Amino acid sequence: MEEVGLGIIGLGNVGGGTLTILAENAEQIALKLGFRLKVVAVCSRTAHAKRLPPALGPVFRTTDWREVVAHPEVQIVAELVGGTTVAAEIFDAAIAHRKSMVTANKELMAACGPEIWDRAIRAGINLAMEASVCGGIPIHAVLREGISGDRVQAFYGILNGTCNYILTEMEKRNVSLATVLEEAQRLGYAEADPSADVDGYDARSKLVLLAALAFGEKITASDIFMEGIRRIGEVDFRYAGQLKHTIRLICGARKIPEGLILSVRPALIPMSTILAGVQGAYNAVWVKGVYGEDTFYYGWGAGALPTGVAVVSDLMRVAREIRSGSPQRVSPFAHERLGENKPVSVTLQRRAYYLRFRVDDRPGIIAKLAGILASKRIGLEAVLQEPCETKHDLPFVITTEETSEQAIREAVEEMSRLDFLKEAPLALPMETAL
Ligand SMILES: NC(=O)c1ccc[n+]([C@@H]2O[C@H](COP(=O)([O-])OP(=O)(O)OC[C@H]3O[C@@H](n4cnc5c(N)ncnc54)[C@H](OP(=O)(O)O)[C@@H]3O)[C@@H](O)[C@H]2O)c1
Repeated sequence: MEEVGLGIIGLGNVGGGTLTILAENAEQIALKLGFRLKVVAVCSRTAHAKRLPPALGPVFRTTDWREVVAHPEVQIVAELVGGTTVAAEIFDAAIAHRKSMVTANKELMAACGPEIWDRAIRAGINLAMEASVCGGIPIHAVLREGISGDRVQAFYGILNGTCNYILTEMEKRNVSLATVLEEAQRLGYAEADPSADVDGYDARSKLVLLAALAFGEKITASDIFMEGIRRIGEVDFRYAGQLKHTIRLICGARKIPEGLILSVRPALIPMSTILAGVQGAYNAVWVKGVYGEDTFYYGWGAGALPTGVAVVSDLMRVAREIRSGSPQRVSPFAHERLGENKPVSVTLQRRAYYLRFRVDDRPGIIAKLAGILASKRIGLEAVLQEPCETKHDLPFVITTEETSEQAIREAVEEMSRLDFLKEAPLALPMETAL
């Protein structure tokens, strides 16, 4: 049987999972393709110390990725190193050698995907990046093929498994973010420096890619409003519950007449929506199209084997394409470029809002806050207050009628100057169904 030669650079979590699947599932893969995928060369900084699945047979090992890219039998290179430095050099070299590429690298693709893709198309090579967003959920394939006949109007994604794990544990057990984060770090679910996850950077890179694929626009990180989950307390879940909502870190993209609003932020979502049922480290994407309306995608967002499946499936697709001589002609970042999807400021967004206060209690507080809301023409919907032992740090919530993010920001800024507040009010949008 004929073969397509693979070079795997990076033998960590994803590289390891990819090799396991290529070894264990080789017969199925060959039956589906009509030819074999043969791992010819592998590379990592400690390549000689790695245990490779014996079923792969003899494999060339090196610590120098250039040897993989230049290897005459390697037709497709998988970049599974991550980051934006070495990985960018690997892409440059692969393009120079006219080797097709598969990657799991959201960071690099979010930062320079459009440029890399344009150069790859000019060089006549094929690229694939399914594993870069939502690990095991084939969301790229969905947007590029499955629903490409539709026109996406909006999507909500839960794209960071660590944040979703933290939030759902806080909700289930009524414990603080610090407690769950510390546990997650101990169990290895969260990094020692959790900033990329809890401050929203990881989710933002993924939103750059998904929004680019869904709307055909060149999106950059600076187009996206970002707020992490650090300010969410267990008390917020109790109040959200009273409102029949829960809280998730939502990566949202929505077309309005002025353009595209993009944000990564904690938001209240109705318990009745399918997204509210996404628990633990799972990811999900809920897409609304003009014609097909709602579709929903759910699965593991990370992990060696789920992400390995995405990499192997990409390797299979690229192998099929290069064997049939069909180079990519259109970049996934530029299928439309009609200009109507230009990102616009999140301040144009209109929503009901949840405002949570911590106050040193005294008479007249509600009147003062309500006065500021009224001065911004924001309608007050409800006031919620749980019984509390201390009057010196009393949490309570005001929900508003639908208003603009701009008006809420102005109100929050004015409220923040009030001397009875222990901290600036927490303002979260209350998302509706898509
Ligand atoms: N982990 C996940 O579940 C997941 C999910 C989706 C996407 N991704 C993406 O997949 C990529 C890889 O992530 P990972 O979790 O597998 O990372 P990882 O476990 O840290 O593995 C990185 C690998 O790259 C190798 N490496 C680093 N610098 C190198 C260099 N200069 N030359 C050659 N090899 C080098 C490392 O070598 P040594 O082992 O020898 O040190 C290691 O094998 C990243 O882009 C990540 O964002 C990961």
